[in-house]
Amino acid sequence: MKALETQFLTNTPQNINTAAEILKSGGLVGIPTETVYGLAANALNGSAVAKIFAAKGRPMDNPLIVHIADFDDIKRFGLVSEIPDSAKKLAKAFWPGPLTMIMKKSDIIPDEVSAGLDTVAIRFPSHPSAQAIIKAADVPLAAPSANLSGSPSPTTANHVMNDMNGRIDAVFDGGACSVGLESTVITLAAEVPRVLRPGGITVEMLKSVLGEVEVDNAVLHKLDDGQKAASPGMKYKHYAPKANVILLKCADNEYIKYVNAHADKSVAALCCDEDIPELNVKPYTLGRRNDYISQAHNLFDELRKIDKSGKIKTVYSRLPSTDGVGMAVYNRLIRAAGFEVIDLEKM
Ligand code: TXA
Ligand code: MG
Repeated sequence: MKALETQFLTNTPQNINTAAEILKSGGLVGIPTETVYGLAANALNGSAVAKIFAAKGRPMDNPLIVHIADFDDIKRFGLVSEIPDSAKKLAKAFWPGPLTMIMKKSDIIPDEVSAGLDTVAIRFPSHPSAQAIIKAADVPLAAPSANLSGSPSPTTANHVMNDMNGRIDAVFDGGACSVGLESTVITLAAEVPRVLRPGGITVEMLKSVLGEVEVDNAVLHKLDDGQKAASPGMKYKHYAPKANVILLKCADNEYIKYVNAHADKSVAALCCDEDIPELNVKPYTLGRRNDYISQAHNLFDELRKIDKSGKIKTVYSRLPSTDGVGMAVYNRLIRAAGFEVIDLEKM
């Protein structure tokens, strides 16, 4: 791939237009959203979208989310064959925001976006710069997270630069992402709406609007070899730092004991604030023990800090709770760990 000169666009009205012009002419721009930074291209231009896969090193069978700046954009751009009632209800409750809905696609969606599926994932982000860039470009934007495939998702413009400098046309700096991990993905193309990826909009919140909601088996469990993922992105080892992440299933005091027994310069703890005074290894804290929203916000940044340290080879973390936003933290951490869990309760 030929190296590009990646522009770093500060948050000005002029730079909203610069980003929009690049997108309109088929280029790639890293854009802020409230969840994580996205690597955007014009969703209706298949060859522009194909460049996203090359820049990220992303497998072509993993479909992308299409971002819009108004619920009516779905109709205006003709993105789906039919808007289900469930989509209208969820949009009213949670859009703009960290929720992606999968619906039956229309023919306008290029194969590069849907990866050959008959559905398309759509999200209306709440970040003001994301909305401004989409409106100025006046096209829907296909955008996966703006990290190299497999590494932790970027939550600042600098994270995007670290991964994508020379690979994309520009990055727009909209500050640190407020949620810090990717949107909840729900499919409305199944008989019963089903969560394919947990995020800031919790299963309880979705149930409060829709009644019945299922959680896909791949959210919390490893797929068996050869088993087909409803969401292709769920089958890959993901979000992983270079260090080896190991999850411990145990009581709080057992976690401290185990980590301290394995203390060494190459070992770190991905832990809670309350653990810090007791740990004999370098702590990387996700926040307070029961504050799942802070833990979600801090997770990817801490995973990147662990890599930056350069010397950490093993990271011990607790198996998180699956309550509320905890389910999203669990889903990302278990993938970062390649599903490696040590069950101290059984030992
Ligand atoms: O918060 C987010 O969702 C961020 C920001 C940039 O909006 N985007 C993001 O995109 O996380 P990405 O590509 O990293 O994750 C999209 C996930 C993948 O797991 C993909 O397989 C799934 O959504 N997905 C996309 N389209 C789908 C479809 N039609 N059917 C099933 N899964 C789909
Ligand atoms: Mg991603």
